[in-house]
Formats: sequence, structure tokens, C-alpha cells
Amino acid sequence: MTGIQSCLALRRGADFAKGVANMCGIVGIIGKEPVAERIVDALKRLEYRGYDSAGVATLSRGAMARRRAEGKLRNLEDRLDRQPLDGIIGIGHTRWATHGRPNEANAHPHATDDLAIVHNGIIENFRILRHELEDAGVRFESETDTEVVARLVSYEIAGGLDPAAAVKKVLPRLRGAFALAFLFRGREDLMIGARRGSPLAIGHGEGEMFLGSDALALAPFTETITYLEEGDIAVLTQTSLQVFTEEGEPVERPAQQIAAGAFMAEKGNYRHFMAKEIHEQPEVVGRTLAAYTDMASGLSRLPDGVDVDWKALSRITITACGTAYYAGLVAKYWFERFARIPVEIDVASEFRYRDAPLDENGLMIVISQSGETADTLAGLRYAKEHGQRVLSVVNVPTSSIARESHAVAQTLAGPEIGVASTKAFTCQLTVLFALALQAGRARGSLSEPNERAMVDALVSVPGLMNEAIRHEAAIKALARDLSKARDVLYLGRGPSYPMALEGALKLKEISYIHAEGYAAGELKHGPIALIDESVPVIVVAPHDEVFEKTISNMQEVAARGGRIILITDQKGAEEAGIETMATIVMPDVAPMVAPILYALPVQMLAYHTAVFMGKDVDQPRNLAKSVTVE
Ligand code: AGP
Repeated sequence: MTGIQSCLALRRGADFAKGVANMCGIVGIIGKEPVAERIVDALKRLEYRGYDSAGVATLSRGAMARRRAEGKLRNLEDRLDRQPLDGIIGIGHTRWATHGRPNEANAHPHATDDLAIVHNGIIENFRILRHELEDAGVRFESETDTEVVARLVSYEIAGGLDPAAAVKKVLPRLRGAFALAFLFRGREDLMIGARRGSPLAIGHGEGEMFLGSDALALAPFTETITYLEEGDIAVLTQTSLQVFTEEGEPVERPAQQIAAGAFMAEKGNYRHFMAKEIHEQPEVVGRTLAAYTDMASGLSRLPDGVDVDWKALSRITITACGTAYYAGLVAKYWFERFARIPVEIDVASEFRYRDAPLDENGLMIVISQSGETADTLAGLRYAKEHGQRVLSVVNVPTSSIARESHAVAQTLAGPEIGVASTKAFTCQLTVLFALALQAGRARGSLSEPNERAMVDALVSVPGLMNEAIRHEAAIKALARDLSKARDVLYLGRGPSYPMALEGALKLKEISYIHAEGYAAGELKHGPIALIDESVPVIVVAPHDEVFEKTISNMQEVAARGGRIILITDQKGAEEAGIETMATIVMPDVAPMVAPILYALPVQMLAYHTAVFMGKDVDQPRNLAKSVTVE
């Protein structure tokens, strides 16, 4: 097999357990004057991330102290007014509980005798690690995955490692997407931060250093920011920053001046918003899935207000535009597979004028990142006029579509600036997957064990996305070849067919190369006439139940000199048995959630092709981020 063995990241067994998700904001200051008040002020600037409990820990005269409070930040401020914290080094955290009661016991910072820790993200394999520690006699105070990290590092310190060495030893054992910050008892000259899949920025002050989930939180302290990269470990003193790779090698990360006004829509280390938003996906998909799954029971759940009488439904109609429409196409497979309910789907610009007959007890699902797309809004209004209950999947909860819906299932992608939708798409898929599981359970067509298995698969996606992103360089090299093409075909079957459509849309809308997505089985009904050595054919094919069929389509292409780029997993790569231009080997993932993971390579392929061609990636010609006119 020739070509690129990129994204080769086999799952190390399905031994992960369901992570206890924390989606939130992190702040740390290692300073020269009391820090507690400034930490709370910084936490306020992370308010956009949502919070319902918060806390601060500081070190002073060798002792570590914590103040935590349920509810709004002002409750923490009140607590600090009553019980002030001194100390010139501290960490703070706002937790946006996505499951279970947001209470003080679950609030961060978590602590052991040796250290305090704050955490943003999901440690997927925390239960396995917790059992190992319990077997070694370690006792736990909470059910959180965060405490497992704290106890692991403490365990290594008790074994004689210094704090930095202990953290470096523990991190490779963690699976998932996370950002962490640590304080160590008796070490008022040391703070450690680490990131994998969730952002973490370092601020350079005058005789003090800062750490935060993003530069926005650090804006009042400094404009000199270092963004950590994937896997980085940062060791801070009042006057220094050392960064190490996950392998423990020292590495230089540039400090840059961030103009004050740029904070809100910062690109970080990225050249384009689209690149930043592609890389944010482990975090925002993790944040979204955590709001739609109950980690304690391992089942899906819906946020308050997302109430649908799934049992009473005779049909689901879905309408959307562009990438959101492709998310709906994937969801059709999921609703029909899990809930055995017929799903009809149409692009909103057609649906709104089709005078479609609708079942009286039908549900209309409207999908839109912006929540302002005119055709989609018109489709929503048509459905309401015809007695449909309308559930919208939107990224902007204050949008017109959200306001006019009976129920809103929000994606938690955060602001998406790039015109080409990426993180909103994978968050839409995440929400739709949870909705389909809910429908299946309510209609008795999905057993609890099967639902739990599907939730496990969903929870594994952020960590797998992180693994897939690590092989971006290989995809970037492939984009160079792709940029020379005049026409490109994308093929897929089953839930991968909409991924072929999405991949083609991503490529055409930012590189302006003509690209079309097709159901692989359709090839011989016409499109195969296009095939020759000038037309790259990108095949999206995880090793699922239709893989063999797709491979035979690939053979038809190869037999006519077509150049194939195969996006598959290890087993697919081994069984394809076809000479390809390249093979992108993705981490193993349960086939039903593969579309969420396989969005990454087609996004990265389109992005790097457009960048290589010098296109305006974030604002492609003729396009707008939200099409609010017909
Ligand atoms: C996708 O990359 C495009 N930007 C476009 O197709 C977009 O998905 C479509 O316009 C729908 O936008 P919406 O999700 O905001 O409704």
C-alpha cells in the first residue's frame, strides 16, 4: 500500500470508560502580590463559556487554601469577602456542569495534600486509572475524572518525582481532550499547565506569569501571549516559562503581542479562523456531547427544554442548507437505524416552496449554525403553519430560528467565524446523534446496553479527533497534489455518503476547485464517465458494513486510471488491496459515529488545498457566513 499512512492511530483497545466532563474556564497567576481577586476578575471574562460553580486555590506561607462556591461567580466573590485568600500564586476555575448537580463538591479546584488542580475537558479512561489507584490504597473524595489526575500526580510525587517530572509521567497515561493547571504545596515558585485538545494560553507579565483558557481571560494582565500547542506542558515561575512536548522534550513556543481589541475573535497561533475552528473540535465536540450525555448512567440525555414526544411521532422531516443539510442527511441514517422512524429531508430552498404534505403529528428538525438562514427560517415557518412541532439544532441560541422554534437543541461550538463551517458541523452531528438515541430509547427500539455502547462511542470521539489532528502534516502534503486538480470526486456509502457531499462542499467553497460528492453506488450510473488520471477520487470509507461494496466501486475507478485518495481505518487500509494516490488511516471508531470523526480529514484536506492555492480561506469569494436572503 503506497501513499500516506497518516492518522494511523489505532485505538488502544476500547478500555476507556465514560469520562466525567468538565467544560469550563481555567485561570492561573504566579505573581508578586495577592492574586485571588485578579483570578476572579479573569474568571468573569471566561463567563461566555458558561458556569454554574467556581473556585480558587492559592498558596501562602507554604499552606494551600481553597474557596469554592455553587452558582454564579458572585457567590464565590461573597465567599472570598467573608473568607479572604491571600497568596501570590493561585489557580481558578469556572465549571459549567453538564451532568449531575453543580455543587461545591464537584467544583474545582480539586486538591490532594500535595497539590491543587483545575481541569477543562474529558479524561476518557479515568475509571481504569481510578481503580488502579484504589487497588494501591488511594482514597477518593469525589467521582470526578479531575481528582484521578490529581491523585496520579500525587502518587508519583510520593514516589520521589519532582512535580514537573510527576506531571510528565502521568499525562501520557490520560486519554481524551483536556487542559490542566497545577499548584504544588510548598512551591510558591512553580505552576504547571498542560493542554491536549483544549486551548491554554500563557501570559507574560512584569515579574509574574499568567495562564488561561484563552487570551481573553488574560487581557487585563498582559498582551504578550504564548499559545501552547497540542501535548505541550508549561512549567512557569514568576519570571520564566519552559515548554516541553508530551515526550518531555524542551521546545520553543513564540510569544506574540495580541492587540487588545483582537481578543474576542482571536486566531491564536492559527493563520485562519478555519484552522483554529478545525482544531477546536475536540474541545467543542467534547463540550457538546457532555451536555447531551449523562456520564453517570452512560446514557444519552437532553438538556432542559428539549422535550419531544418521540413515541407519538409518525415521521420526522428535516430541513437545512449547505453543511447543515449534510448533517441532517447523516442524522436520517441514525434516526431510521435507532428509532425506526421514517425521516424525510430536503434542502430548505426546495422545501419551502414544495407545498409538502406533512403528517399532523410530525416533527420538523431544523438545523442551522447561524440560526438566521432565510430559506431555513422559511422552512421552519411552513412547518409551523402546518401543525408541526419544530425542534431546531442551532449554534446561536438567540437567533431567529431558535426564537421561533418550539424547542432548541443548542450546539456548543462557540462562535464560528470561518465561512466554511467545521466545528459547528461536528457539533450538529453530536447533538443529532444524541437526539436519535433518545428517540430510539423512547420508542423502545434501542436497548439500554446498545444505547450505552453508542454513548461510549460518542464519548471517544474528542480523543480520536485529537489523534487524527496530529497527522495534519501528512494531509497538508497531499493537498499540494490536490491543488492541481480541475475536478475532484468524493464517494461514500451509508452515513459516509453525506460526508462525501460535505467534503466536496468544503473543497469547492474555499479552493474554488470543482468538486462533487456522490453515493459510491451511483458511480456507474453516469459519473464514472468523468474518471481519468486527471480526476482525483476521494473515497470516505471506514471499515463498516458497506465497506466491501465501496471497495468494488474503488476498483471500477482504479481500472479507469482514476487516482484514489482513500480515507479509512487500519482494517480498511489492509483490505482495500488497491494502489492509491494516498491512504489516510484514521483511528478506529465505531462505524455509527464515524461521520463525526471523518469530518476532520476532509476539512483539513480542503483547508490546506485552499491555503496552498493562496485563497482567502476565511472569506471565500461570493460567500457569506450566514445567507439571510433568499
Ligand atoms: C458551509 O461550509 C457553508 N458555509 C454553508 O453551506 C452553510 O452551511 C449554509 O449556508 C447553512 O448555514 P447555517 O448553518 O448558518 O444555516
